[in-house]
Amino acid sequence: MLTIATLHYKGGVGGTLLAMNLAGEACRRGYKARVLDYAHNKCALDWKNQRESEWPEIQLPVVNPLIEIRRAEQDGIDVLIFDTDRKSAATAQDADIVVVPGRATGTHETGPLFECVEVVVGSRVPVLPVLNKVENPDDERVQFAMATLDNSPLATLPAMIVGRSREMDEAEDHWKAVQEMYPDSQAADEIRALFDTLIARSSRD
Ligand SMILES: Nc1ncnc2c1ncn2[C@@H]1O[C@H](COP(=O)(O)OP(=O)(O)OP(=O)(O)O)[C@@H](O)[C@H]1O
Ligand SMILES: [Mg+2]
Repeated sequence: MLTIATLHYKGGVGGTLLAMNLAGEACRRGYKARVLDYAHNKCALDWKNQRESEWPEIQLPVVNPLIEIRRAEQDGIDVLIFDTDRKSAATAQDADIVVVPGRATGTHETGPLFECVEVVVGSRVPVLPVLNKVENPDDERVQFAMATLDNSPLATLPAMIVGRSREMDEAEDHWKAVQEMYPDSQAADEIRALFDTLIARSSRD
């Protein structure tokens, strides 16, 4: 089983959206996925309440993360995702790999991203920074953030980009993953690439 945590210090950077889309991609590939909503605002649970589909399983954690991991293994889960936030950041240390979404529109946006990376780096969990809602990958602020992250000992994997897209927004309006509504979109491709990286990294360890 692969345990992925999304960890974000700043609100609205897309942590929950990435968690739900990674779970959606896992399901699309035939894996059994479960999202545990560790965030204070319970946005992932909102997805569960609005969706008709049973997939993916979305639950409130009831016991400590290590026991949740064991429980998920017993339930035959292949991909377990912790959606965490500032308050539940420590939970991410029990994951196999941590996805840290951030934005690259200025230091007030990238600052929390680095702060966040620092929290998990001590625990030697691989960290994958994701610049989300990128409108133009050639924007110098995006280039600067990518280069800074790639040269930083804090981020253990090269940063990746997920663009700002109408498809992502519209899928979320329907409480679906982008792969379900727009499987041929660039956004769905980006999520697939992200998932591939997470799988590849975890099987190398
Ligand atoms: N790549 C994207 N393209 C378009 N819209 C996006 C993208 N990523 C996130 N959004 C939108 O930004 C909003 C915030 O996303 P999300 O709820 O996933 O962030 P979060 O980091 O979990 O925030 P919170 O701190 O509130 O939990 C949502 O309305 C979502 O649809
Ligand atoms: Mg959230």
